Amino acid sequence: MKIHRNCSLKKFNTFSVDEKAQLLLEVDNISDLANILSKQNRKDEILVLGGGSNILFTKSYDGLIINLKNKGKKIIQEDENSVLVEVSAGENWHDFVLWAIKNDFGGVENLSLIPGKVGAAPIQNIGAYGVELKDIFYSCKGLMLDSLSEFEFKKTECKFDYRTSIFKSTLKNKTLITSVKLLLTKSAHNFNIDYKDLNINLLNTELSVKKISDEVIKIRTSKLPNPKFFGNCGSFFKNPIVNSSKYKSLLDKFPNTPAHKVDADNYKISAAWLIDQSGFKNKKDKNVGVYENQPLVIINYGSATGNELLNFALKIKETIYSNFEIELEEEVIIM
Ligand code: EPU
Repeated sequence: MKIHRNCSLKKFNTFSVDEKAQLLLEVDNISDLANILSKQNRKDEILVLGGGSNILFTKSYDGLIINLKNKGKKIIQEDENSVLVEVSAGENWHDFVLWAIKNDFGGVENLSLIPGKVGAAPIQNIGAYGVELKDIFYSCKGLMLDSLSEFEFKKTECKFDYRTSIFKSTLKNKTLITSVKLLLTKSAHNFNIDYKDLNINLLNTELSVKKISDEVIKIRTSKLPNPKFFGNCGSFFKNPIVNSSKYKSLLDKFPNTPAHKVDADNYKISAAWLIDQSGFKNKKDKNVGVYENQPLVIINYGSATGNELLNFALKIKETIYSNFEIELEEEVIIM
């Protein structure tokens, strides 16, 4: 375990914001951690940090930050058609995906190249190209931060929804996920290439998990900036969901509004489009800007502070509201 006092958070968040943490522990062993937590009396001030790829720090953090680095992947159960794997929370998500692809295990290929750690995946039910974590999720194990009791939550208990779960709502900041179990396919894979960008190149070709993963990696690399070069957290906002009467009134004014039907009465509108239409694409304000290939991504072009990034995001929100009367909601967690 590494202990850092009064350290910079710059290398612990992909926005590369240089705020401070009073105490940060890099932990690779869960029993060490339980030991330390049992002595910690300010349990309400614990922040569990994964890869820091969905968080914006706007000030110093005065509590305890735990950065889990426990490693391991094991097959718990398997038959001819499927395999149940347990992956430690501290594993890098994309490294795990590559391991699955190498073994020809299906289910995570559309989720290739998503930044972050495995333990963070259930928090916001990560999703891309028509697949969400919940589609392959079996359960996750962890600790309740107040009592230090262990839990294992099955899928229904996690209350997964679009970019959210019980860990982002009722149990926000109350748990620490230590491992995740996923149910993957070994044969009869459920390939999903419905998403337009995947369809263009893969329709009428012989599919494999590797082929889909390679294509997703190609698309993501072309649309999303590499945080090594430009600090960012992927999509800053969620795609807003509006009811059908609001959608109709939008179409009256803006006939090209891109949307997906969610259910009988609701439509998911493309936030990237709303931002693009409002003239923010490729717009820069000192150290902060909107990425040219994907307007949902806000970029730290240099040494922007968390507040500069947040104020820029708020300006986008205000403009979208005044243009479309739609309230954008942040996907990124603001601290
Ligand atoms: N668009 C524009 N202008 C642009 C680019 C896109 O108007 O310059 C519009 C187009 O109408 C396009 C639409 O935006 O069809 C959607 O763009 P894209 O296909 O890139 O997907 P997205 O809805 O913007 C979501 C996720 C991404 C995920 C992609 C692919 C959310 C908030 N974001 O983006 O997730 O990778 O779909 O599935 O749901 C992330 O969570 O960090 C993330 C990147």
